[in-house]
Amino acid sequence: MGNRGRRLYMMVALGLVGFALSACGEAGPPPPPPPPPPEYADKHMPPDYWNNPKIIEEGRAIFTGAQNIDVNCASCHGKDGKPVKAGARDFRQTEHMKLFSDSQWFWRVSEGVKGTKMKPWKTKLSEDERWKVIAYEATFGLKGLKYDPEKKAWVPDND
Ligand code: HEC
Repeated sequence: MGNRGRRLYMMVALGLVGFALSACGEAGPPPPPPPPPPEYADKHMPPDYWNNPKIIEEGRAIFTGAQNIDVNCASCHGKDGKPVKAGARDFRQTEHMKLFSDSQWFWRVSEGVKGTKMKPWKTKLSEDERWKVIAYEATFGLKGLKYDPEKKAWVPDND
């Protein structure tokens, strides 16, 4: 193999390795989100909201834009949590969604995610509405569970 041939071979080989690595990166769970800023650290879901059919129904109306068409989470995240816009996380992936605490969800919905299409929603949704939409979102991958701030874990919602 001549010098040029070897260089070409190296470039192709490196390209393949890079491709394989990026493909692996997509298969594994994404890195956990950063901790919420102090003003969100103590925000928690009202305890009787998790898995509460009435709350979930109200959250669904917000998520799908039925309550206010200017707030249409489903237009990117999909009606059933299966993303319809590139870049949105798959809310049906239990292992991915467990990486979030309730405070982290609330923070992201309130302030958005910089550098993505996810806008801050705090001017369009009251705190109560944000919790309702999160209670609905949780049903995609975390149904029957609730976040326990003391254990810092998702636990079965037995109440
Ligand atoms: C214009 C498209 C779009 C709309 C509308 C939208 N999102 Fe997002 N959302 C995204 C994108 C893109 C991301 C960032 C990538 C990701 O992590 O999913 C994101 C991230 C999130 C996250 C955090 C995930 C993370 O990685 O930090 C939550 C929670 C979320 N959205 C909920 C909502 C809710 C609730 C609504 C409606 C009030 C909504 N989104 C509306 C596109 C959208």
